[in-house]
Amino acid sequence: MIVTSANLRAARYLTGALLTGVATLPMPLLLLGASATVAAAGLGFVLLPLALLGLRRWTGPAWRRAHAYLGEPVPPRRPDPPAGFRRVITDPATRRDLAWVAAHLVVGLPFGAVGLLALAGPPVTLAQMALWWLAPVDRPLSLLAVPVTSWATALAAGAGQLLVCVALLLWAVRPLAGLHARMVRALLRPSSAERLAERVDVLTESRAGALEAHAAELRRIERDLHDGTQAQLVALAMRLGVAERTMADDPERARGLLREARDGAEEAMAELRGVVRTIYPPILADRGLDGAASALAARCPVPVTVAVDALGPLPAAVEATAYFVVAEALTNIAKHARAERASVAIRREGASLLITVADDGHGGADESRGSGLAGIRRRVAALDGATRLTSPPGGPTTLEVDLPCAS
Ligand SMILES: Nc1ncnc2c1ncn2[C@@H]1O[C@H](COP(=O)(O)OP(=O)(O)OP(=O)(O)O)[C@@H](O)[C@H]1O
Ligand SMILES: [Mg+2]
Repeated sequence: MIVTSANLRAARYLTGALLTGVATLPMPLLLLGASATVAAAGLGFVLLPLALLGLRRWTGPAWRRAHAYLGEPVPPRRPDPPAGFRRVITDPATRRDLAWVAAHLVVGLPFGAVGLLALAGPPVTLAQMALWWLAPVDRPLSLLAVPVTSWATALAAGAGQLLVCVALLLWAVRPLAGLHARMVRALLRPSSAERLAERVDVLTESRAGALEAHAAELRRIERDLHDGTQAQLVALAMRLGVAERTMADDPERARGLLREARDGAEEAMAELRGVVRTIYPPILADRGLDGAASALAARCPVPVTVAVDALGPLPAAVEATAYFVVAEALTNIAKHARAERASVAIRREGASLLITVADDGHGGADESRGSGLAGIRRRVAALDGATRLTSPPGGPTTLEVDLPCAS
């Protein structure tokens, strides 16, 4: 039998539970004290919610550790309830936190003690076996509850104690750690009704965002058409009118005006094409997302590798958003990153379209400094997607966007 890294991981997890368990010991007293002050002078109306909100923060790491131990992604926790005595007291998450305190003290402490024994037991026992003679004669060291007064007892009792610790490490810590992590997960997990309520909140927000983005987009298109194309067409109509009037008296001037009018018409058409491109880039219709991403990459001054999987049919809004994400990310790379190379990857994973744009530049992207990245986040949120930006100072920068595309 050999000790695997999984055994050590389990022992470390349990030892962590022991430490947090010990640190949680004063919690019931603290909460009782805070509740007692409710009766006295009403101070508790302030103190108790504070203590319970503190407890919420305190259970956060336990929630994350349990999921990390079970190898699961950590689901987001419910945000803190809005301040207020009644709200905090009646929040179901408060009941869960209190149940966690009780269970963590009753189960976490003994389980954690086993973890510590398994982890620290072997080296400590070996040290005790070697150094038993340093203990005062009237208070000899105990190994496996046997007082050690000779090398023979040190070796025999020490070997016994070592065996116990190793046996715990080999056979006890993994089931105990698994049990503990599952218990924490079950205790702190929001109920399905709460998860549903949370989902509705998120969807309401993203729906409001979508409506806002839609309205902003309509305003922008209206402004572009009004200030650009319409102004040019008005000028064009005026030139044609003057040309019509001067045609008989001054054909030379009329010809010049007609030439200007033709140039104006061409400009207006170019302007119109530009506006159309910002609504639904025609290249998407012509060459699909794959071809459009390659065209964007070819236009980027930094060498870009493009990897696009077979994507299957996508809703037009998702395709357009993906296009604008890649366009803005590559523009940023060209403008800010000072990168040697960059990459664009688009793939479909189940009902999601995943877009990753990365560069090896100097990093430090900060969406509060411009409107491009914030615009991406808004556009993506409007489709109920997620945006992740990693850009530590010194680089590299990775922008990941996750767009739900179940049609
Ligand atoms: N790939 C990148 N590498 C390094 N820095 C970046 C990168 N992308 C963005 N940044 C930094 O983050 C800031 C915000 O980017 P954002 O796209 O929001 O605005 P912008 O590009 O400056 O302006 P615009 O509103 O025209 O997009 C940029 O000003 C830049 O300093
Ligand atoms: Mg930008």
